[in-house]
Amino acid sequence: MPVTIIVGTQWGDEGKGRVVDHCAAQSDIVARYNGGDNAGHTVIAEGHKLALHLVPSGILYPQALCLIGAGTVINPLRLLKEIEGLRAVGVEVGPERLKIAAAAHLNLPTHRALDGASELRRGKQALGTTRRGIGPTYADKARRVGLRAGQMRAPDAFAAQVRALATAHNERLINFGLEPQLVGPLVAQLQEAARRLAPYLVDGATVIGDALAAGKRVLCEGAQGTLLDLDHGTYPFVTSSSPIAGGALTGLGFGPGAVERVIGVAKAYTTRVGAGPFPTELLGETGERLRQVGHEYGVTTGRPRRCGWLDAVILRYAAQVNGLTEIALTKLDILSGLPTLQIAVAYEVDGERLEHFPAEWGNEVLSRCVPIYEELPGWESDLRAIRRREELPPEARAYVARVEELTGAPVAFTGVGPERAEFAL
Ligand code: IMP
Repeated sequence: MPVTIIVGTQWGDEGKGRVVDHCAAQSDIVARYNGGDNAGHTVIAEGHKLALHLVPSGILYPQALCLIGAGTVINPLRLLKEIEGLRAVGVEVGPERLKIAAAAHLNLPTHRALDGASELRRGKQALGTTRRGIGPTYADKARRVGLRAGQMRAPDAFAAQVRALATAHNERLINFGLEPQLVGPLVAQLQEAARRLAPYLVDGATVIGDALAAGKRVLCEGAQGTLLDLDHGTYPFVTSSSPIAGGALTGLGFGPGAVERVIGVAKAYTTRVGAGPFPTELLGETGERLRQVGHEYGVTTGRPRRCGWLDAVILRYAAQVNGLTEIALTKLDILSGLPTLQIAVAYEVDGERLEHFPAEWGNEVLSRCVPIYEELPGWESDLRAIRRREELPPEARAYVARVEELTGAPVAFTGVGPERAEFAL
């Protein structure tokens, strides 16, 4: 079975881009299935650090066709900038390499303005979104008033459709007491973007279907993470799409029988950006150390990420809702030098031990969950040169083995440094 799905197991930022980059070498198609330019996937290759927001992380492999699937939302202006940025460092991103599903929805500058406006209105209850307009774009999709990428093929009709939607958004901005956006220049900009992006448009589900029929290998790249899933995450502190493995099926349009591997990417500790409860959060010195050593600042927004110990309750939950066949454990090297490490193995709430992540019971319950920790010894040495798991220091090996026991999923890759090759297999 030719499909591999790569999902985030935590609150995003697990290092999925690197794992996708690693697996893309053996893939014929790499397809993004959810989210938009709220994602920031970092890939370091041949001396360049590339931050990808919409273009799939397989773009660095010339044999891989990259598809931005139907389940995504695309900001056409940002996509063009990203294509230009890649070209500037010598990565060819023409329509023969990159395809855009005609059913993907378009994220307009007015969606971004509405995202900011609704965050402002929420005040202290703000969700801490990336303010990229992701929620408002998916809301328009669900309300069946959104614009789909395929509409860019008919420039005159497209201009009228953009004008109508942006005007409706402006009315809402005025209701929020905010300045409306100038519709004329926005339409002109988007019409020009449409002219440039039209050659990239395809029927995404057909591209995937034909590839599977021909026995090609498809790698599905998830953005964000399990706990940011609209249905199975920590609602309302979630994104508006389906980052879980099921999202790959709906977001690209293929059936479950084609899936062979589901790789859950887990950072060796936990981070979260945006608001919402975080049981293993470390507010003191150790949290700050993880943030500094791990460069835990958002790729998209630059916001400092909240940091904490590894939470195996979350990883078990991710293994369950995604059907993980394996785990890619990233950034193990960031833990080097800590004398002891903690892993949350369960929670205590209302005097009872809780083994399951209480996603469906909401944030009120989660905010009262106190982690039950298990302490493991740390290790001193630098891991970056290690390429085989057996060569890790015994304490690091024990940490990885404990993750396997606690989640029931084997750890197939362990990240020991930021560079492309820095995995212990
Ligand atoms: P939105 O996706 O911009 O609507 O933001 C909703 C929530 O998802 C916020 O908590 C964001 O911080 C979080 N989020 C969205 N994209 C990412 C990501 O790529 N990494 C980590 N968190 C993200």
